[in-house]
Amino acid sequence: MAGGERQFKRQLELNLSDESSDVRKRVEELRELIEHHNYRYYVLDDPEISDAEFDALMRELAALEAQHPELVTPDSPTQRVGGRPVEGFAPVAHRVPMLSLANAYSFEELRAFDARVRRFLGAAAHNLEYVTELKIDGLAVSLIYEKGRFVQGATRGDGEVGEDVTHNLRTIRSIPMKLRGGKELTLDVRGEVYMIKREFEKLNEERRRAGEPLFANPRNAAAGSLRQLDPGITASRPLDIFLYAIGYSPDREFHTHMEVLETLKSLGFRVNPHIRLCRDIDEVIEYCERWGERREELDYEIDGIVVKVNSLSLQEALGATAKSPRWAIAYKFPAKQGTTVVKDIKVQVGRTGALTPLAILEPIELAGSVVSRATLHNEDMIRSKDIRIGDTVIVQKAGDVIPEVVKVVKERRTGNEREFVMPSKCPECGSDVVRLEGEAVARCVGVRCPAQLREGVLHFASRDAMDIEGMGPAVVTQLLDRGLVRDFADIYYLRFDDIVGLERMGKKSAQNLLNAIEASKDRGLARVVYALGIRHVGENIARVLAEKFGDMENIMRASKEELTAIPEIGPRIAESVVAFMSQEANRGVIRRLREAGVRMAEDRAGAGDLPLSGKTFVLTGALEHFTRGEAEEMIRRLGGRTSGSVSRKTDYVVVGRDPGSKYDRARELGVTILDEDGFMKLIGRDKGLDRG
Ligand code: IVH
Repeated sequence: MAGGERQFKRQLELNLSDESSDVRKRVEELRELIEHHNYRYYVLDDPEISDAEFDALMRELAALEAQHPELVTPDSPTQRVGGRPVEGFAPVAHRVPMLSLANAYSFEELRAFDARVRRFLGAAAHNLEYVTELKIDGLAVSLIYEKGRFVQGATRGDGEVGEDVTHNLRTIRSIPMKLRGGKELTLDVRGEVYMIKREFEKLNEERRRAGEPLFANPRNAAAGSLRQLDPGITASRPLDIFLYAIGYSPDREFHTHMEVLETLKSLGFRVNPHIRLCRDIDEVIEYCERWGERREELDYEIDGIVVKVNSLSLQEALGATAKSPRWAIAYKFPAKQGTTVVKDIKVQVGRTGALTPLAILEPIELAGSVVSRATLHNEDMIRSKDIRIGDTVIVQKAGDVIPEVVKVVKERRTGNEREFVMPSKCPECGSDVVRLEGEAVARCVGVRCPAQLREGVLHFASRDAMDIEGMGPAVVTQLLDRGLVRDFADIYYLRFDDIVGLERMGKKSAQNLLNAIEASKDRGLARVVYALGIRHVGENIARVLAEKFGDMENIMRASKEELTAIPEIGPRIAESVVAFMSQEANRGVIRRLREAGVRMAEDRAGAGDLPLSGKTFVLTGALEHFTRGEAEEMIRRLGGRTSGSVSRKTDYVVVGRDPGSKYDRARELGVTILDEDGFMKLIGRDKGLDRG
C-alpha cells in the first residue's frame, strides 16, 4: 500500500471514531478519498479497495450532503451520477481554437509531410522527433480547470465555439474533478471521448430489443451520449476519455509534447499507453503499419495514427494554417464503413441446411477491398434493422469478418423499397424450409439438398452412426462430384465398378468399402435414426425413438402429440421429427434404404434373454480398456441400461481409476461394486480383447 494511501486510510478511521469532527471537513475528506479511489480504479485500472468499501464512502457522503445541502458543490462525486436535465447546450468559445488535422492516406503522403516539415525548419530540423499516437475515433472535448478544479467541459463544435457539456462529462469517472497535486493550476486539456466496442454493441442490442434506432458505430454512440440533455442518460452510457493535448496553460511551461503527456498523467488524467517517440519518418511508418494490423485487438475504435512534432519550439516555428497545425498530421486507415445500396436479398443454404439471407450490394470499397455482399444473419435481424431491397445502408467490414449491414439510412427511402420474405421452399432442392420454435435460423429439411449432402453423408457414415469404414471425406467428395451418391440410400446401390474407378482406390480397398457398406445394414434402428441427421435428434433421442416405436414406419407416422408424450422429447424435437418425416424426398430415401436391406426394425423378440437385461449400471472413474462411450454401448448391446447416478435401484457400479463420489455412494448403499476385471468377466470379455 502506498504511503499516501496509508494516510488516507488512517484519516478515514480517525474520523469515523471522532464524532465531534466538523461535517464540512469530513465532506471534504470523503470527496478526496472518493476521487482518489476513482483515479485508482478508472485511470490506473488498479483499485485499492473493494466496490463495497467504495460504495460505503459514497453513501456516507450522500447522506451528509442530504443533511447539509448547502455543502453540495457541482464537482462533488455525488454529482457525477447525473444532475438535472438541462434546457439546451450553452455555447462555449474556446480560448484557444480546437484545430483539426490534415490527413494522409498513404505512406507517400506521410513522407511528403516529413519533407515539408524539414524544408520549413531548415537547419532546425536536425533534432526533429515525432510522437505517434493512436487516433481515437470519438469526439474531441476541452476540459477547463480553474484553481485545480474542473469547472467546464465543451465539445469541439466548429473549433471556435463548442457546446457546454460539463454536466455530462462529470459522469465520466476517469475525468478528475480536482487535479492531483495541481491545486492552483488553470488548464485547458484536450482529449477524445469514446465508447468501448463491447459496450457499444451491448447498447445497440438493448436499443434493438427496445425498437429504438441503432447507432452506426461507437463514435456516433459516444457523440449521441455526450450530447444528451439528461445527464442521467449519459451516466448510464459507458463513456471514457483519453487526454492528448493541452490547449492553454498559463501557469506551466513545457518543452516537448512528451513532457505534456507525462504531466497530464501525473495530474491524474488518462493518457493512452501506446504513445511512442519516433526518431524519423521510417519509425513513424512502422508504427502506422503495426497498428493498421493490430487495430482490432484494441477494445476501442481507432481510425488512424496522429503524428506530432515533439519539440514545442519547433511546433511554434511551424505554426498553423487557418484549419490545422503544420506540425501534425493524421494518417488515416482505409475506411471500414461506407454507404451503398441493397440491390437484392438472396438466400444461401449452408452445410447444415441453414438459410442465410445475403444482401447483394452495389459494390463499394471498404478497408482496401471491394465489397458486394453482406451477411444479414437471419430473418429477425432483417426485421429488427428493417432492411429492405432498394435501401441505402451503411455497411462495415471489420478485420477478416464478413461485411455486415450496420443500419439503414431511412432518410434516403423513396417508397419503392421492397420487404424481404424468407422463401418457404429451399432454393437448392425445393424441400420445405422450417423454422423451429425458439430458433432464429430457418432450415431446409431435405436430406437430398445438395448444399447439405456432403456433411450429411459424412455424418451418416460416421462411427457413431452407420459406421462405414473407409467412407471418409476424400471418398465422399468424389462420390458426390461424380453424381454417384445423391442421397444416403445411393450408398447401398454402389457397385464395385463405381468404387474402383475413384482416385487412389485399389481393388482391395474397393472390396473392403463394399464389405463395410454391407456390414452397416445391420446396425439397428437407433443408429439409422441417428444417421439421418434429423435436427435435434442425437444418439440418445434416436435410441429413445427406436425403443418406443420399434420400427421406422411407426416413427414416420408419429404425430407431434405422440412424440411429446414421451418424457425425453420436447416440442422442439417433436416438431423437427415431424417436419423431417413429412418431406416426400426424405420418405423416399428411407424407402430405398429399406429396399436395399438396411434393417429398420428393432429386433425386440428375445430382448429379455440378453445377459444384462433389466440391469442398471453406473460408471465412475477411467477404464483402461474402453472409453466411457464404448463401455456404455457394450452394456446396452447386452440389454443393460446405464445411469448417471447411484441409487438403490442400481445393480452394478463399475469403478475405474480415480473414481468420483459415486463410488462412496455405492458403498453407502451396499450396491455391488465391480472393478474393470470384474466388469469384463461379467460381459464375457475376459478372454482376449478383440473389440468386435
Ligand atoms: S491532436 C491540433 N491526438 O482527431 C491537433 N487528435 O482530425 C489536435 N483525435 O479533432 C488533435 N485522437 O478529435 C489528436 N491522439 C490524438 C487524437 C486526436 C483522436 C481526433 C480529435 C481531432 C481529430 C483531428
